[in-house]
Amino acid sequence: MNFMPANYQTLADELATLADSAESAEHLMTMIVERLQELLKHYNWVGFYILDEGVDGAEPTLVLGPYIGAETPHKRIALNQGICGAAVSSAQTVVVDDVNSDPRYLACSLETKSEIVAPVFVNGKVVGELDIDSHQPAAFTEDDRLLVEHCASLVGQYLETTS
Ligand code: SME
Repeated sequence: MNFMPANYQTLADELATLADSAESAEHLMTMIVERLQELLKHYNWVGFYILDEGVDGAEPTLVLGPYIGAETPHKRIALNQGICGAAVSSAQTVVVDDVNSDPRYLACSLETKSEIVAPVFVNGKVVGELDIDSHQPAAFTEDDRLLVEHCASLVGQYLETTS
């Protein structure tokens, strides 16, 4: 976290403190999406997806969790679809500077120009992700990646210590 600018560091610290007082993982995710969307004007859609592993032979699927922004038609996403599926399948953060030139992209809003998705890990295993869309092209810098990964890891740590 040492490499983030001061305002990002302050927000990262505030969210870490909120994580200590969260009543549930859902509550923590809700607080994170609210603060990110409120404070960072280029974060136009902010939301978590939770990985449903699938039972009785059903395919694993990402299920929409707490979010703020335009209603999305993508409430369930298969792991072979979208930027969201790619982040989970690769277990890596995916940054797309121009969503319209990425064939994986599933559109939520016509205004979206760029996107970042960071996986949430619990004991090294992906259990969900934090997805952020921006109306600005190439909106997400290295600082944004650090902040978004920090937020995703707060949820992962919370789940590790409470489950
Ligand atoms: N754009 C994502 C889908 C989620 S919505 O944008 C909220 C994707 O390509 O996976």
